[in-house]
Amino acid sequence: MKTIIKNIAEIIQTEDNPRKWVCGNEMGKINTIKNAYIECTNNLITNFGPQEQYKKNNEKTIIIDAEGGMVFPSYCDSHTHLVFTQSREEEFVDRLKGLSYQEIYNNGGGILNSAKNLQKANEEELYNDALNRINTLITKGTGAIEIKSGYGLTIESELKILRVIKRLKNNCDITIKSTFLGAHAIPTEFKNNKEKYLNIVIEEMLPIIAKEKLADYIDIFCEKDYFSVEDCKKLLIAANKFNIQAKTHVNQFNSIGGVKASVELGARSVDHLEIMKEQDYKALINSNCIPTVLPSCSFFLGIPYAPVKEMIKRGLPVALASDYNPGSSPSGDMNFVSSLGCIKLKMTPEEVINATTINSAYAMGIEKELGSICVGKKANLFITKPVKSYASLHYNFSENIIKKIMINGKIK
Ligand code: NIG
Ligand code: FE
Repeated sequence: MKTIIKNIAEIIQTEDNPRKWVCGNEMGKINTIKNAYIECTNNLITNFGPQEQYKKNNEKTIIIDAEGGMVFPSYCDSHTHLVFTQSREEEFVDRLKGLSYQEIYNNGGGILNSAKNLQKANEEELYNDALNRINTLITKGTGAIEIKSGYGLTIESELKILRVIKRLKNNCDITIKSTFLGAHAIPTEFKNNKEKYLNIVIEEMLPIIAKEKLADYIDIFCEKDYFSVEDCKKLLIAANKFNIQAKTHVNQFNSIGGVKASVELGARSVDHLEIMKEQDYKALINSNCIPTVLPSCSFFLGIPYAPVKEMIKRGLPVALASDYNPGSSPSGDMNFVSSLGCIKLKMTPEEVINATTINSAYAMGIEKELGSICVGKKANLFITKPVKSYASLHYNFSENIIKKIMINGKIK
């Protein structure tokens, strides 16, 4: 079935051929076409161009009128923890009263609090909550999402989350990638024996997860008081034997060498990067690993924003993601992430668009199928209200300018 979107004021982020990523100065450029149309056949984009070049044919066609709005490719959100149960509002209030995120964890809260709740939750409830969250995010323009485990911290509960993600993959229209984050925090009962817990992750959890193909990626929180660089290396070496690539949490509070270790062991992305040292930039240059920045987390925790402009200046690509989770970013709204990209990270609208589409698609390994308006890619896109320029998306923070959503060639 063919579908034509007509009366588009401007198509944003077009590509003639899918690129791997956009880096350095190139991040400041995007291709657009004014007064345009897009043709989709079934779930794929099959043509696009200036409206006057549109050739009618005799096939039965669904016409969608963009009514002078702009068309953007859907966001690819390459970093979330959206399978969780219960918010962490009490900790939010504790932080307002002066406790730090780290202190809350050291007192047995934080990730451990979410794990305690999740271990008690049943799969059905987890699935339904996560599905509702995804459906809400689709209305906000997200067309692909990565979801991590990491609130289980026992074999049983880590598998429970990964099975929920598998069901979401099978039942949601958007593309989902799953990441095994068993090494997210040290469970209280292993507080004085972290090695033992890491061995359980590597020797007991990982083989089952690999055998059941429950994870596309592996992750670890490499940070002071959590897992060391040595732990990170041990885990990534084990995962490489199962051909599972890494996407790691590094440099959120301290630069301890997690970036270099991740890059050397073939990580696809290194995420957070609020604190960057020379050694971290050096490790990333000429690598295939994409720095991924999570501004909603900096916003919510009041921690430094990652030095994105410096990364771009050094020729690196940058991806932006939401980090949706109950502790450090209780929002998966990529429009807000985009506004923060401009307002707080000082990125230009073009840089933000590249970081939330092509580059974040690379960060989740789907750059050939999503992340731009390109013939052969999936027709996951959104149509805005008529706006003055594409910067409207970033300028109007907290205002929804999205009018229609298309996923797999169908209007939602
Ligand atoms: O990416 N920093 C580690 N993990 C999550 C937060 C998890 C939580 O606090 O529940 C993050 O910010
Ligand atoms: Fe995270």
